[in-house]
Amino acid sequence: MKNRPAVVRRLRPLRRAIGHFRAAGEIVALVPTMGALHAGHLALVRRARRSADRVVVSIFVNPTQFAPHEDLASYPRRFDEDRSALAREGVDLIWAPSVEVMYPEGFATRVLPEGPATVGLEDAFRPHFFGGVATVVAKLFLQCLPDVAVFGEKDYQQLQVVKALVRDLNIPVKIVGAPIVREKDGLAMSSRNVYLSPKERAAAPTLHRVLVDCVDQIKKGRPISEVLAEGRTAIARVGFSLDYLEARYAQTLKRVASGKERPLRLLVAAKIGKTRLIDNIGV
Ligand code: PAJ
Repeated sequence: MKNRPAVVRRLRPLRRAIGHFRAAGEIVALVPTMGALHAGHLALVRRARRSADRVVVSIFVNPTQFAPHEDLASYPRRFDEDRSALAREGVDLIWAPSVEVMYPEGFATRVLPEGPATVGLEDAFRPHFFGGVATVVAKLFLQCLPDVAVFGEKDYQQLQVVKALVRDLNIPVKIVGAPIVREKDGLAMSSRNVYLSPKERAAAPTLHRVLVDCVDQIKKGRPISEVLAEGRTAIARVGFSLDYLEARYAQTLKRVASGKERPLRLLVAAKIGKTRLIDNIGV
């Protein structure tokens, strides 16, 4: 095992450690996470390593991106396992602030994203979500001052929101998007997959299968609306309650007008039992 990464929980030692990296002329990459790490997160860490001399991983379950009825209290927390996994990846530093360090008494400022954050996908079902994400990601960037930050395409809308955030606020960090890591049967890896019962787990790969089928049909020239309507039925048939299955322009996430323009992205969100899953694919 490589050296255990330093675990830093307060801002002053964080600034000091990152200041040392930068003083040595090293490129710093940040991988923001909420912990309960799986192979998808670790792929981001490896991607970060390719672009940087030092890799910082933040682990912070951000309360401001959960609505009161969502799973903040039960969200999986496995710090010791996460730390061991990050040690094996040769991560240099884990930034793991408490809620009090991130949001001290009197905290009064929030980032309110628009554009890709208000296109009627995740934002329609989780109205708190992107405000919470944009605020905490802006804070993480200003705390860690990375040259590069890596985000997964798994949360495709989030990736577009973060790109808009750094562009609009002139935050000097390069955002890198990394492909979705899947289980062998196609289910996108997620910290929330542990909530699935065996029966739900067996149905879950349908989301990916339907996305792949839809891309196939669209590429054959069938009308997108027809293809998506069949996809919605196939997803509901295995027991999902669908939030959305839509085709959008890949960068703006605006609604598709002509059907001829590319690149597009198909995005899906659906609940099975108590668990809400998301996935997406390029066309
Ligand atoms: P979290 O859900 O822990 O995800 C952290 C990062 O891992 C995100 O960029 C996400 O897209 C990526 N990721 C998750 N599953 C993946 C998979 N199967 N393949 C590839 N990448 C994957 O996203 C968040 O945390 C939070 O919203 C955060 C950005 C940390 C802000 O709180």
